[in-house]
Amino acid sequence: MDDLRDKYISLIAAAADESMLEDLRVQAVGKKGEISLKMRELGKMSPEERQVAGPALNALKDEINSALSAKKAALEDAALDERLRGEWLDVTLPGRARRVGSIHPISQVTEEVTAIFADMGFAVAEGPQIDTDWYNFDALNIPGHHPARAEMDTFYMHRAEGDDRPPHVLRTHTSPVQIRSMEKTGAPIRVIAPGRVYRADYDQTHTPMFHQVEGLAIDRDISMANLKWVLEEFVKAYFEVDDVELRFRASHFPFTEPSAEVDIRCSWAGGTLKVGEGDDWLEILGSGMVHPKVLANAGVNPDEWQGFAFGMGIDRIAMLKYGIPDLRAFFDSDLRWLRHYGFASLDVPTLHGGLSG
Ligand code: PHE
Repeated sequence: MDDLRDKYISLIAAAADESMLEDLRVQAVGKKGEISLKMRELGKMSPEERQVAGPALNALKDEINSALSAKKAALEDAALDERLRGEWLDVTLPGRARRVGSIHPISQVTEEVTAIFADMGFAVAEGPQIDTDWYNFDALNIPGHHPARAEMDTFYMHRAEGDDRPPHVLRTHTSPVQIRSMEKTGAPIRVIAPGRVYRADYDQTHTPMFHQVEGLAIDRDISMANLKWVLEEFVKAYFEVDDVELRFRASHFPFTEPSAEVDIRCSWAGGTLKVGEGDDWLEILGSGMVHPKVLANAGVNPDEWQGFAFGMGIDRIAMLKYGIPDLRAFFDSDLRWLRHYGFASLDVPTLHGGLSG
């Protein structure tokens, strides 16, 4: 019996899986198992022998059975551990962001521009897209007969028959927000005003609706030199380069004196637009020192305050930065174009985190 016990206890301990264990169970305590056969021999024994052998065999059977079930539990535990190791999942890993739509280049660039000017202390101002001709023209020193009204290809809103008030217009630029902002907060003031503007014009670089960002800085001693510095800082930060060539051209706007238009060096070689090289210039903004009459129209005393303003084409600088040759495609809502030129929705542009991802 001791031999039987030693044999099965060590076989059970060595069993590698549940099926080997089952074979051992059959071999030892199954109907025709070794221990069961031994129990059958009890009948041939004398009562005295049986009194000793019976309990001993029963004890052996119990011992083998409990060794079997202990080993079975151990094998099940090991199998579970193995499975858990195989199915291990690190729930602390960041998720794989699924791209849900994409951010239009205009929205992206508006965010980029806002981040750069915010860093220079400019707040964001807004105004209506449908405005009166006072805000869009007169207050900006563009009187009724002025050629600038015609030049701007203005869209006029329809007025009912017999209503002879001056018509509302779709704003032709973001400059009316200069007036509205100064009316609201007075001077000193430092704001940008991004938004949609409208002109009846259509070709590769013009669409009837496009985007500008107005800039306005009024204080006691702001000069043209401040304007130049701000624009150069902006352009370097925006194009993420140390040097971009700008060209300041003397110009004329009724609402600034003196006035300058700013072009940026670029190339259209091979139909792709590249900034900083080539022999072409793309006009990106108009600027100048705010005209005293404009300050006065907005309730700011021109004897006390002065400053600069600029109006920049957001679409233009988006085309330049991201090499998009045709402005019209911006507004076609072609999903393939949007997927190609769009931006991931969670990449918010910041100066410290990177403007364009
Ligand atoms: N409003 C002008 C335009 O749309 C741009 C501009 C803004 C020029 C501010 C000077 C100052 O062309």
